[in-house]
Amino acid sequence: MPSFINIFCITLLTVCCRLEAKYVPGVSYIDNVVLYYNNVSGIWTCDRRTYPSGTFGCQIWRLNTPNIANELMCTNVCFDSDRNIKGLILTYTQTMLNPKTVYVFVESYAGAKSVWTSDYSLSLQSINGTIAPGDWPEVQEIVRANMKDVDESSGQ
Ligand SMILES: *[C@@H]1O[C@H](CO)[C@@H](O)[C@H](O)[C@H]1NC(C)=O
Ligand SMILES: *[C@@H]1O[C@H](CO)[C@@H](O)[C@H](O)[C@H]1NC(C)=O
Repeated sequence: MPSFINIFCITLLTVCCRLEAKYVPGVSYIDNVVLYYNNVSGIWTCDRRTYPSGTFGCQIWRLNTPNIANELMCTNVCFDSDRNIKGLILTYTQTMLNPKTVYVFVESYAGAKSVWTSDYSLSLQSINGTIAPGDWPEVQEIVRANMKDVDESSGQ
């Protein structure tokens, strides 16, 4: 009889652990951001905006809207080789399901060397730096993998 109870308890424990270990991916605020430079046409795609040939580079920003906990301000802008802002700036907002501190600043230009940092916790996501356009998909993957590690080790 005691050993039966034991097995029952172990089974219960296993079920609980399985439920807890189920991974629900957190939202990465760069997963859906396109950064692409066509080195033949010279055309840039930076998040939601396309910039014509002759554009030197672009910046992608995502920052919390002051005083609106669940809203991000997203900005796309391009610049010339002197870092002067050129052409139209696009700004739009994005609603977060779970409010957190978000700081995304990505600058890219042809020939850039990727130097960036990122941080992630249950209350924060940041990505900050210069990224060569060809490296963007890899950056997104690294950030996603890091998020998964943090989420899993904190029992998410
Ligand atoms: C353009 O990009 C392709 C890959 O996307 C690369 O193989 C090629 O070397 C690049 N050309 C120049 C001039 O940078
Ligand atoms: C982003 O990176 C730049 C350059 O390293 C640094 O000066 C700046 O303080 C960083 N911003 C944040 C919010 O970490």
